[in-house]
Amino acid sequence: MTTLATCGSPCDTWSGVTGIVVQNANAYVDGLSEPARHMIANRPGVPGAEDRVREIPTLPVTRGQYEGGTADTTPVDPSGWTLDQHFDTGHLALEENLPEIVPLIDGFPRALHRKIAVIGAGGRLGGAIAREAADRGHQVTPLGRSTMDVTDPASVTAAVAGHDAVVASLKGPDGLVPRGAAALLAGLTRAGVHRLVFVGGGGSLEYAPGQRYVDSPDFPAAYRQTAQDQAAALELLRASSGPVSWTYASPPPVHLVDGARTGRYRTEARDTPLTDAAGESRISIPDFAAAIVDTIEQRGYDRQRFTVAYA
Ligand SMILES: NC(=O)c1ccc[n+]([C@@H]2O[C@H](COP(=O)([O-])OP(=O)(O)OC[C@H]3O[C@@H](n4cnc5c(N)ncnc54)[C@H](OP(=O)(O)O)[C@@H]3O)[C@@H](O)[C@H]2O)c1
Repeated sequence: MTTLATCGSPCDTWSGVTGIVVQNANAYVDGLSEPARHMIANRPGVPGAEDRVREIPTLPVTRGQYEGGTADTTPVDPSGWTLDQHFDTGHLALEENLPEIVPLIDGFPRALHRKIAVIGAGGRLGGAIAREAADRGHQVTPLGRSTMDVTDPASVTAAVAGHDAVVASLKGPDGLVPRGAAALLAGLTRAGVHRLVFVGGGGSLEYAPGQRYVDSPDFPAAYRQTAQDQAAALELLRASSGPVSWTYASPPPVHLVDGARTGRYRTEARDTPLTDAAGESRISIPDFAAAIVDTIEQRGYDRQRFTVAYA
C-alpha cells in the first residue's frame, strides 16, 4: 500500500499546493490504510476537507504512512489480481474522477516557482518573457550586455549558475545569435544548469517540405540576416548532444505582433507554421511570452523546436 502526498518545495507554506493526489499502488480500496481512507474522503467540495488536508503533511502522518500499511497483504498480492476485480465495485475509478483530478495535476507544475535567468531581458521579447515569468511568481534574473557576454561561455557560466532555467532572447550583429547559442550550450553545461529556452525566429519554418520562409524571394530583406542567424542557431542546437535540454521557440514567420495577452493559443513541435481557420499564422508578443513560460513550467518540448499561434 502506498499513499503519496505529492508536493514540491513550498509544501511547508502551502502557497504552492493546488491539491493532493492520493496514489494507491494497486488501485483497489483493499490496499488503502486507515489514514489513506480518511485522506480520500477529503474530496474537493466536501465541507472541512481543506482544513483536514492541511494536517496531512505533518510528521505524525508521515510516520503513519510507514507504520500503517495494510495488515493483510492477501488482497493486495499482485498474483491475485484479475480483470474481473478491476471491473468489480471498489476500485477507485480514476477515470471517472478525471474532471476533479486533471486540474489538480495540471496546476501542480505551474505552482512550483523557479529561478529563471532571462538573457536579453532589456529587449523587446526578453522583456515580455521576464514580465510574464515574474507575474507568475518566478524569481527572474534579468541579464544583458551590462552584466554578461552571451558569446563567452565563462561569462555565461558565471551569470546562470544556480538558476533552474535560462531563457535567451538575443539580437545582434556578426552572428551573435548562433555564437550565443554555442556559448550557452557550453556555459550552461559547466554551470550544471540543464534547461535552456531559446527565443527563435520564424524564418526557418517551412512553407513546403524543405522550403524555408527565409530562403523565399518574398522574405523581407531587412530581416533576412537575422532569420539566417536564427536558422543557424537552430541547427546548432539540434546538433548538440550534451546534457542541456534545449527548446527553440519559433513565432509565426511574419506576424509576431503587438497586442493583448489572451492566454489562448496553440503550441506544437513542428517545422511548419500553425495557422488559424483563415490560414493565417499570428500571435501577440504577450501570448508568445506566455507560451515560453508555459514551456519552462511544464518542462515541455525537450530538444525540440515548437511554434505558437492562435487557433
Ligand atoms: N521582435 C520581433 O518581432 C521578432 C520576431 C521574430 C523573431 N524575433 C527574434 O527574437 C530575438 C529577440 O528579438 P528582440 O526584438 O526582443 O531583440 P532586442 O529587443 O534587440 O533584444 C536583444 C537583446 O539581446 C541582448 N544582447 C545582445 N548582445 C548581447 C550579449 N553579447 N550578451 C548578452 N546579451 C546581449 C541585448 O542586451 P541589452 O539589453 O544589454 O541591449 C538585448 O536585450 C531575435 O533573435 C529575433 O530574431 C523577434
